Amino acid sequence: MGEQTVSASAAPESSTPKAGPCAMVIFGGGGDLTKRLVTPALYNLATTGLLPDDFAILGVDHSDGTDEGWRDSLSEMMQGFVGGSGEFDPAKIDVEAWDWLKSRMFYLKGDFEDPKTFEAVKARLGDLAGSHSTGGNALFYLAVADRFFGTVVDGLGAAGLTESGDGAWRRVVIEKPFGHDLASAQALNARVLKVLREDQVYRIDHFLGKETVQNIMTFRFANGLFEPLWNRDHIDHVQITVAETVGVEGRGGFYEATGALRDMVPNHVFQLVAMVAMEPPVSFGADDVRSRKVDVFKSMKTVKPEHAVRGQYAAGTVLGKPTEAYRAEPHVDPRSHTETYVALKLDIDNWRWAGVPFYLRTGKHMSARTSEVAIRFKPAPTALFAATETSDIQANWLAIQIQPEEGISLQFEVKRPGPVVDLKSVKMNFAYKDWFPAQQNVGYETLLYDAMTGDQTLFQRADQVEEAWRVVDGVLAHWGRSAPQDFPDYAGGTAGPVSADLLLARDGDRAWRPVRLDPGPKQPGEPSK
Ligand code: BG6
Repeated sequence: MGEQTVSASAAPESSTPKAGPCAMVIFGGGGDLTKRLVTPALYNLATTGLLPDDFAILGVDHSDGTDEGWRDSLSEMMQGFVGGSGEFDPAKIDVEAWDWLKSRMFYLKGDFEDPKTFEAVKARLGDLAGSHSTGGNALFYLAVADRFFGTVVDGLGAAGLTESGDGAWRRVVIEKPFGHDLASAQALNARVLKVLREDQVYRIDHFLGKETVQNIMTFRFANGLFEPLWNRDHIDHVQITVAETVGVEGRGGFYEATGALRDMVPNHVFQLVAMVAMEPPVSFGADDVRSRKVDVFKSMKTVKPEHAVRGQYAAGTVLGKPTEAYRAEPHVDPRSHTETYVALKLDIDNWRWAGVPFYLRTGKHMSARTSEVAIRFKPAPTALFAATETSDIQANWLAIQIQPEEGISLQFEVKRPGPVVDLKSVKMNFAYKDWFPAQQNVGYETLLYDAMTGDQTLFQRADQVEEAWRVVDGVLAHWGRSAPQDFPDYAGGTAGPVSADLLLARDGDRAWRPVRLDPGPKQPGEPSK
C-alpha cells in the first residue's frame, strides 16, 4: 500500500441525513436553558440542514404568551448573541434559517402541575401532526427545574402522551441534575421508569455533546499507537481538570444547595473519566458503549472522605477584573459552607487501572477557563543519564484539551542541541482549529439530533447515573455531617485551595498541572528546563 497522506482541508459536505418528522415539546420554553442553549442549537441544526422538513416546536411555560410573542422574544435574544463572546456568538443570524425555524415555533401557557396542561399539549400535538406532518412523533424536552422532572413525566404518562398507539415514537429528554445523591437518583429513576421504558429516556449530560469529549474514545480506539500503553504498566496517574473563570453567575440559589461536587463531578467529570478508562466496546451501539462505561463506574471505589478536598472562593481578581467572594454573591448565605471547588482522588479497581490514581478537580473563579485530561506516563529509567548534565528526566504527558483550546499535545524529551548531553521537554501539538473549519456549536446540537434520531449513545442510562452517585455519596454524606470549613480558602483567580495541592503531594512527587490556557509549544506542561 502506498503511503497515506493527511492534509488540513475544509470539511467535506456532510453526509449526515436529516432527522425524521417530529414535534419537539420544550417544557420550560421561557427559561434560561431554552434561550441560551436549546434555541441556538436548534438554529445551528437548521443552518446545517439536519432538522426534519416536517418539524414543529411547542414551548410550554407558566407565563402568559402567544406564538408571536414567543417567536419575537427568541428573535430578539438571537440578535443579542451576535458579536458576543459566549457559547453562541455568531457574526450574524442567517435570516433564512431563523425564519424557517421561527415559523415552526408555537407557544402554550401551562402549569406543569396541572393535568389540563398535558391535555392541551396532546391537543396541540394532534394539530401539529396535521399541519406540520410530524407523524405523531414527539420529543419532550424537560428544560425545567429538576423538582419538576418527576411531575412532568407523570403528567405525560397520565395524559397518555408517552405512547402514541400508532407506531409513532415518544421520547423524553431529562436535563441535569438527575438526583442529588444516590437515594434521590434511585427514586427519580424508579418514578420515571414507571411511566417510560428506558429506551424512551434521554438523560442529558452536555459534556458528551462536546466534540473533544466524544473524540477521546475515537482517539484511543482508532490509533494503534496509544492503546497498548493505556494501562497500569505504563501510566503513572491521570489528572482531569475542569477549571472555570465564571463564578455562580446569579445562580446562587441553585448553587447553595448543590455545590461543586454535585454540580460537576458525578456527571461531567465522570464522563471524562469514563471515556479515558473504558474498555473497547464491541460496537458503537448505544448499549455496547454505555455498558463499557458503566463497567468503569462500577469499578470505581467509593471515594473516601480523606481523598476529597473542597474549597470556596474569596474575593480576588479573575482575568484582570476584581471579583466578589462567593459569600457576597446574590442569594448566597454570607456564612455559606457550600464548596465552589472540589478535588478528589479516585481509584478504579480493575485490571487496567488498579494502582493508577485519577486526580479530579473542578472549581469556579479559577485562574483560567480550561478543561483537560492529562495522562502522565511512567518515567524512563535514569541510569544512562546519571553521568551527564541532565538532572532528571521528565515523564511524558499526553494532554487532551477539551476546551476552550481544543487539541491534543504530547510532551517528550529531546537532546538540547550542544556538545553535552542535556535534555529538554518539548511538545507536539494538534489543534482542531488547524485542521477543521470552526463551527458554531453550543454543544447541544449532536445531542438534540441524536434524540430525534433515537441514538442513546451519548445519554446516560439509569445504571450509569446511580453508580456515579454511589461513588461520591460517602463524601457528600460526610461533608453534610462534618464541622464547618474554614471558608473561603482560595482567592478568586487562583488555582484553588492549598489543600488540593496536598492531596497530590502526599502521594509522592506529584503535583497538579498549572491551570492556564495552553498556548502551544513554548509552554510545555511543565518542562522545568
Ligand atoms: C453546568 C453546571 O452543568 O456545566 C455549571 O451547572 C457549569 O455550573 C457548566 O458552569 C459548565 O459547562 P461548560 O460547557 O460551560 O463547560
